[in-house]
Amino acid sequence: MRIFITGAAGFIGSNLSRFLLQRGHSVIGIDNFSYGEQRNLKSIINHPNFEFITGDILNSFIYAEVKADVIVHLASQKIPRYNNAYRTLVENDTMLKNIVKKALRDDSRVLFASTSDVYGKNPIIPFSEESDLLLGPTTVKRWAYALSKINGEHYLIACGEEFGLKYTINRFFGSYGPNQNLTWWGGPQSLFIEKALKKEPIDIHGDGTQTRTFTFIEDTIAGITKCVESENANGEIVNIASNPEEEVSILELARKIWGIVNPTDKEPMINFVPYSTFGKYEDVARRVPNIDKLITKFNYKPSYSLEQGLIETIKWQRELTNFTS
Ligand SMILES: NC(=O)c1ccc[n+]([C@@H]2O[C@H](COP(=O)([O-])OP(=O)(O)OC[C@H]3O[C@@H](n4cnc5c(N)ncnc54)[C@H](O)[C@@H]3O)[C@@H](O)[C@H]2O)c1
Repeated sequence: MRIFITGAAGFIGSNLSRFLLQRGHSVIGIDNFSYGEQRNLKSIINHPNFEFITGDILNSFIYAEVKADVIVHLASQKIPRYNNAYRTLVENDTMLKNIVKKALRDDSRVLFASTSDVYGKNPIIPFSEESDLLLGPTTVKRWAYALSKINGEHYLIACGEEFGLKYTINRFFGSYGPNQNLTWWGGPQSLFIEKALKKEPIDIHGDGTQTRTFTFIEDTIAGITKCVESENANGEIVNIASNPEEEVSILELARKIWGIVNPTDKEPMINFVPYSTFGKYEDVARRVPNIDKLITKFNYKPSYSLEQGLIETIKWQRELTNFTS
């Protein structure tokens, strides 16, 4: 297949490009390097079936000539914990509209990167694709990210009904692994690893009892690939996550990372950061996926435990840090 990936120099995009190339597909990637890294493309940039465009998806002329069977739309503004919500709302909307217009013109299927954040504060776990989406008030700007993805999902479903658009929605649950962004943009793992390597206190937002179910990148990209390759994926929403038993509190995550990096230490160094530091903020208490659809309809069972994934990620980050420092 020919696959066009937006955000190809980012964390998921670079890993997915590599995996799809290994499986014999042709990949065209685009990225404006707002958050992507050249180093993420190092292993694939010279692959004969890989083309790369440096450019902004907000400008649709740049990629008008690209034709693909599936467009995997990963480029996004993310959670505005420290940022303003404006770019998240405006750019995520404009990018998706450009991609949908293109997909309708070229008869491509769009695979849209949504997020587990859309389930918001729903207290009923695990979250299945039909679960309610429960966001907090609009005065808490963090919900702007989830809202932008819900808006994207509704838009795709409506375009499917109205214009026959082919689409698939993937809701990712906290992915981590090699090529992850080294700041908060990439989630807690990279920062926790950095602090553990430097033997400095790990910042935990709130009291650390909030839980997540993190997904190692190899499971994330294998799940996406099932949805790229399968015609059954048209019109589907699919949670892409690891096994629900991998649920872990953020405090326990910090302990695990510290323990792997500094095995002789009895206790990790922790610094609790109150939520009030981010202005008006709300966190999600528990985030646990139901992955029945991924397993039964798409025949994929995640294979990495949190422990295994962390060991691989720490190895990557240690080598990268040694290399760049
Ligand atoms: N990583 C996760 O755990 C996770 C969880 C839930 C959802 N998602 C979603 O998956 C997608 C990929 O996530 P990621 O972690 O790889 O993010 P990432 O930031 O590493 O990758 C996104 C890439 O898109 C590029 N980009 C952003 N705006 C662009 C624009 N206007 N034009 C061209 N390129 C642009 C960035 O430079 C970046 O390389 C995002 O849509 C994100 O919302 C990710």
